[in-house]
Order: sequence, then C-alpha cells, then structure tokens
Amino acid sequence: MRELTPDTITDAVLEQMATTPDARMKEVMAAAVRHLHAFARDVNLTPGEWIKGIEFMTLVGKMCTPARQEFILLSDTIGLSALVNGLHDKTALEEGTHTSLLGPFYREASPKLAAGTQIARHVKPGSECVLYGRVSDIDGKPLANATVSVWQTSADGLYDIQESPSSVDYRGVFEADAKGLYVVRTVRPRGYSIPMDGPVGAMVKAQARHGMRPAHIHFLVNSPGYRELVTALYLRDDPHLADDVVFGSSGDLAVDIVANDPDCPVKGVPSIRFDLKLSRESATDRTSGRVGSDPSAILREENVKVAAHAPAAS
Ligand code: BEZ
Ligand code: FE
Repeated sequence: MRELTPDTITDAVLEQMATTPDARMKEVMAAAVRHLHAFARDVNLTPGEWIKGIEFMTLVGKMCTPARQEFILLSDTIGLSALVNGLHDKTALEEGTHTSLLGPFYREASPKLAAGTQIARHVKPGSECVLYGRVSDIDGKPLANATVSVWQTSADGLYDIQESPSSVDYRGVFEADAKGLYVVRTVRPRGYSIPMDGPVGAMVKAQARHGMRPAHIHFLVNSPGYRELVTALYLRDDPHLADDVVFGSSGDLAVDIVANDPDCPVKGVPSIRFDLKLSRESATDRTSGRVGSDPSAILREENVKVAAHAPAAS
C-alpha cells in the first residue's frame, strides 16, 4: 500500500478525480482541491479548526430558507461574489454600465408596473423621490422597451422579504419607452446592515466589521440582443460608500438626489438620474452574470437536482 503524506495526498486526490467525464467540472474541482489543500498547509490547519469550519458551514446551510440565502451572504461578505462578477464582466464584448451584486433579496415574482408608478406601498412624508434614466447601447442608441427591474429596502432599511416572506413591496418591473426612458417613483433608499442574526453576521462581528451596505437601489436590465445588466446605484453621500461590507459599491455607480432637475419627467419631487448602458450580447457566451439569486429559486433547483440524483427506491 502506498504511503499518503501531507506532501503526496494532493496528487493522489487529483489522480483519482481524473476520471471525471465533464471537462469543466474536472478543471474546477481539481483547482478547488489544489487550493484547499494549499490553504490547509499554509495555515497548518488543526483538526479542531477544521471542525469549527464544518460547523460554521453547517449553520450557514441550516439558515437557508426560500426567503433567506445565507450562502450568498457568505460569498458576498468575503468578496467572492464581487470577484466572480468582475471576472464575468471581463468577458463582455464592450464596457457598459459598471455591474454590482444581485444579492440575496432579488425576487423573480415582482409586479409589472406602469411607468411612473410608486413602488413603495407606504411613503413617509419627505422621503419620495423619482428615479429615471435612459437605457441605451454603449454608443447611446436608445433601447426601446427595455425591461428594468428595481428593488430596494424600505425607509427602515429592510427588504419586503425580511419583513414577511409573502410581502411584495419596494420592487417592480418597468418597461422603458420608445426612447429608452424609464421612470419610477420610489422612496429615498437607506443604508442598512446585512442580516447579522446568523452565522455570517457572527463572522462579520468576530472580524470587528460594521456590516453596513451604503444606500442603494438594485437594477436588473434586459433588452433582446444585449447582455443582461445586473447593477445598483449608490447614494454618493453615504458614509459607507468606500467600505461596503459586500464590496458592491465601486466604479461610477454613485449618484446624487437632485432637488430640481429640469430634465426629470416628474416635477416637484427630488430625483435621481441613472442612465444604463448595455453591452451587446456575445453570440457564443450567454452565461448569466447573476451572482446571487431569488432564494426560493435556489431551493427549487436544489430540490430538483436532489430528486434527479437520488437512488431509485427499492
Ligand atoms: C443587497 O444589496 O441586497 C445585499 C447584497 C449582499 C448581501 C446582503 C444584501
Ligand atoms: Fe440591497
């Protein structure tokens, strides 16, 4: 029997996994094993520490429900989501609007609303603002009828899904007009803390980090023939613009709320202008740029896969 040592174990694992028929799976898993083994050697990982790590990941999994995705939160707080986002952006044919995280609060079932509709069911006095802009290609050609999905927190800093899993609020799907113009009424977004009552929050606290996201509004924008744009606008005056706990605020996504913008289609209400430029879609690479998901969709897919791979009942 051959002897497996800390120096030979990695090659032994790679050798055994070399039979993987799916080439991309083989590549990704081999790299994961190499890096994980290197990490364990690097920090001289002890059995107790690794069990702690396994306990942590078990708690992360247990926290996941159709309304909450703790694994996305983990990926976001260690910058992995932002990194994967950035890698995807590099594959675009051209540089459109900077992207940002989809996050764990996106919901597929959002109401389709007419242009100019208020997305918040309750508007506190003085909090209303108009959100508008043009959807275009990178040269400024308007993308008529582009779909613009937006979602954000209430003025209290909570998403609808956090207030109650069945509530639908502060979100909507809008259609741009023939000139690519979209108009939404909303409330001023507020910076908020990511959910801190689970294992990821415990990790963030143990690292003495604040856990705050700067005030933002999420966007998911689609137009046939163009790459889906996943992004968010960030309020420039937010104190956490430079130290977002999930590394989503970056590039040129900072905006101001303007009191009397003469170009705003709705008068007398403070407004935010946010233009959206989409890159053309590649004919060969149509992989999704969504680093994040509707939490219920993840559980749905997982259920399907578990069922498909379960051994036949005997
Ligand atoms: C969000 O912006 O919705 C979000 C993103 C990452 C983690 C938590 C929240
Ligand atoms: Fe958010």
